[in-house]
Amino acid sequence: MLYKVITEKATSVETDALVGFCFQEDGLPEVLEQIDDRLGGTLKKLLEIGEIKGKTGEVAVIHSIGKIPSRQIVICGLGKKQEFKPDIMRQAAGAACKELNKKKVKNISLLLPDEKMTGLNAEYSGQLIVEGAGLGSWTFKKYFTAQDNGNGIEEVAIIAGEDDKEELEKGVNTGRIIIDAANLAREMANEPANFMKPEDLARVAGEIAEQYGLEIEILDREKMEEMGMRAALAVAQGSNNPPKFIIMKYKGTDDEGIDLALVGKAVTFDSGGISIKPSEKMEAMKMDMSGGAAVIGAMKGIAELKPAVNVVALVAAVENLPSGTAFRPGDVVKAMSGKTIEVISTDAEGRMTLADVLTYAEKTGAKRIVDVATLTGACVIALGEVATGVFTNNQELVDMVKAAGEEAGEYMWQMPMYEEYKPQYKSDIADMKNVGGRDGGAITAALFLGEFVNKTPWVHMDVAGTAMISKDRKYWVKGGTGVPARTLINLAITLAKK
Ligand code: BES
Ligand code: MN
Ligand code: ZN
Repeated sequence: MLYKVITEKATSVETDALVGFCFQEDGLPEVLEQIDDRLGGTLKKLLEIGEIKGKTGEVAVIHSIGKIPSRQIVICGLGKKQEFKPDIMRQAAGAACKELNKKKVKNISLLLPDEKMTGLNAEYSGQLIVEGAGLGSWTFKKYFTAQDNGNGIEEVAIIAGEDDKEELEKGVNTGRIIIDAANLAREMANEPANFMKPEDLARVAGEIAEQYGLEIEILDREKMEEMGMRAALAVAQGSNNPPKFIIMKYKGTDDEGIDLALVGKAVTFDSGGISIKPSEKMEAMKMDMSGGAAVIGAMKGIAELKPAVNVVALVAAVENLPSGTAFRPGDVVKAMSGKTIEVISTDAEGRMTLADVLTYAEKTGAKRIVDVATLTGACVIALGEVATGVFTNNQELVDMVKAAGEEAGEYMWQMPMYEEYKPQYKSDIADMKNVGGRDGGAITAALFLGEFVNKTPWVHMDVAGTAMISKDRKYWVKGGTGVPARTLINLAITLAKK
């Protein structure tokens, strides 16, 4: 996809679709007036009679019947002015692109809405429009063999005045970087497990490191054994696809310390292991590496945007399969931290891999840890596909994460971590069980992870419901959302400003 800024007059731009934005109950925006003059007042009329309402996500396509070079004019609703927030700008651009993509439009031009209208400056508006367009036009069609299944939109131009050009270009570039990061995470999540094995995750991370000059280490099974990552290795031991522990380092300051460690769950396929899952919907478990994918995607975005912080990404990629070598219910495993875990269910594997990675993260001396995991079905029951569950030992950090998520339109809802839940995962023969029962399942899983974080400010994000969605919503299509890659990038930027 190509993004650019142009300063031509809207009435003379050669494009397949000219896109404008308007609020509900607010009449025709100024930037569309010249167009409307050419159309003999059609747009005003359509607004007056309520044919175009301007509701959030509404996309009205009007043919220009040769009155301007653009074949069609598209009016995107921004909803009610009082309810406007930046994410609506993304949603509107996203809705337009989704619609035009279906129509196989190749080239679109969007009119930058005036700052007086939205309250957003040119730079930020440009960023939001590009994010919405890039997220909204994304599709995953690589496994169709038919020729005409290519992506519709190839070029997105934003039309603005000379005065705004420079600022707008900055925003367009930021937006492009952010959606490339998020779309990489979506792409990885959508890949079937036979194409996204632990070694494939490592390869993708390696390519990014190479391209953006990040330090990277890929540790194999032997090295993980040496370090004592027995809990993570227990999960991996049933599969012929060997585990890979991916360590990526971004250095944005001259300081030695690490400001932020990003930890991602990356179970490339979660069959449940010996505690095998029902076969219905099991195919969805190819997405159980979405946390790792979001972290790797975020590292790409961070490496390109270059905020003044030091960030490491830690992703232990494993596959959870039943076999003659698989770990079993009843096994006791000594984690890297020295704590022992009684395995009740081999399907509670994410927390076992994360236990060791969190121990490793704390050993790096990182000032903060944020982990991202498709950890529990219980979180999906609690919050559905709309909000990510966040858990913390540090209110200040989680407040930053929530704000970063709100800006990104990736909602984060804080869940409690009361001590009183802890007895649920007490074991008769080891320090803890890997399952705390059905009640409060997302919370006991989070508390279990907390057993492996001693003092470092830490946030756990359970993205089981949000990383992959079952139907189109906002600028997302069914499938991977990239959540929370954009939030993590925002967080790194926020930390850089501190
Ligand atoms: N990967 C799953 C959680 C999951 C469920 C992610 C649905 C996305 C959508 C996780 O490894 C798992 O199997 N969790 C179990 C834990 C239970 C055995 C304590 C669950 O949630 O059922
Ligand atoms: Mn599982
Ligand atoms: Zn899992």
